[in-house]
Amino acid sequence: MTARIADRMQTISSFYVMALLQRAKQLEQQGRDVIHMEIGEPDFPSTQAVIEAGKRCIETGEVKYTAPAGLPELRQAIADFYQQRYQVKVSPERIFITPGASGAFLLAFGISLNPEQAIMMADPCYPCNENFARVYGATAQYVPVNAEQAYQLNADLIAEHWQANTQGVLIASPSNPTGTVIAAEALQQAIATVEQRGGCFYSDEIYHGLDYDQPISTALSFSDQVFVINSFSKYFAMTGWRIGWLVVPDAFIEAAEKLAQNIFISTATHSQYAALASFSAENLAELDRRRDLFKQRRDFLYENLLRLGFKVDCKPQGAFYLYADCSAFTNDSFQFAKDLLEAEAVAVTPGIDFGTHQANTRIRFAYTASIDRMAIALNRLERFLCR
Ligand SMILES: Cc1ncc(COP(=O)(O)O)c(C=O)c1O
Repeated sequence: MTARIADRMQTISSFYVMALLQRAKQLEQQGRDVIHMEIGEPDFPSTQAVIEAGKRCIETGEVKYTAPAGLPELRQAIADFYQQRYQVKVSPERIFITPGASGAFLLAFGISLNPEQAIMMADPCYPCNENFARVYGATAQYVPVNAEQAYQLNADLIAEHWQANTQGVLIASPSNPTGTVIAAEALQQAIATVEQRGGCFYSDEIYHGLDYDQPISTALSFSDQVFVINSFSKYFAMTGWRIGWLVVPDAFIEAAEKLAQNIFISTATHSQYAALASFSAENLAELDRRRDLFKQRRDFLYENLLRLGFKVDCKPQGAFYLYADCSAFTNDSFQFAKDLLEAEAVAVTPGIDFGTHQANTRIRFAYTASIDRMAIALNRLERFLCR
């Protein structure tokens, strides 16, 4: 008898963009200059302060397990950060350090979700969300969203789509792939709607800090019963250090302690010391300077995509993505992305990686490349469209 792969794996698929990435690598091996606008991580390196702090920790040789919830001084630094940036008081006991936002999701869903339950989320959204739920035998309940709702769920949609097995609602703002932000009032109403139904509200705030227009609100400003998922990956430019955090309601602290011990033991120690160095005034000033560069890139890309005939019906206000409507050129955006890569060596992500709603006429452009590189990519794109 041969061992069998678990049934759940039939419901978990690879990203379509992986096929494009593989092809991009081949083209690069053949000497082509591929411009990467598919990548969901900052092109900036980790800051010097972070690198030095990580190195100092490793050099002590004391790279041992930490407490499962994380270094007390890092939890305190995050609590202070909430006070400084959002004027919100959060007790450090509610903050759990995790291996990325991915680890935070696994922890949050593990302590709050039962098999057969469903979490409501927007279509389009970050594709792994559903799979974090599937690990626990639960599932996603997708609700299509449009430009009128800034591609975000809101109280009306939540009320309309709530089902007997809906256990909670996940909102990511700024969103991946649309870069759109939920307005403070809409966020507050969405939380209230979920709480009235006895559900859990999960707020994915991983792109906070990379927001470009009006000040953004954390869900913690409106309720202390929400789960907030965050990360050092994006604004803090620490993707590969694998470190993030989860804020839980008081009643879930003990459960989070137990599960964190069991599934992670703790998050990488040098990454925790490195992350701690993020909160100095100089380091935050450097991160804000980078944020301003992302904003310039957003404006540059937005204006140029409109000029080329793409439609962007809701200007993104955060993250580093632009979710463009390419229906003027194709109704098969995956094929479009493949052809663009072959013809002009520009890599982008097709809408089908983020759901099914309007997915065949959407492309995600990541502005994780400099304006100079994007200018070349846009020239190539123009040539491709004029073929
Ligand atoms: C919306 C969203 N949530 C969560 C994650 C997971 O990030 P990480 O595990 O690196 O913190 C990502 C990564 O791209 C994302 O885009």
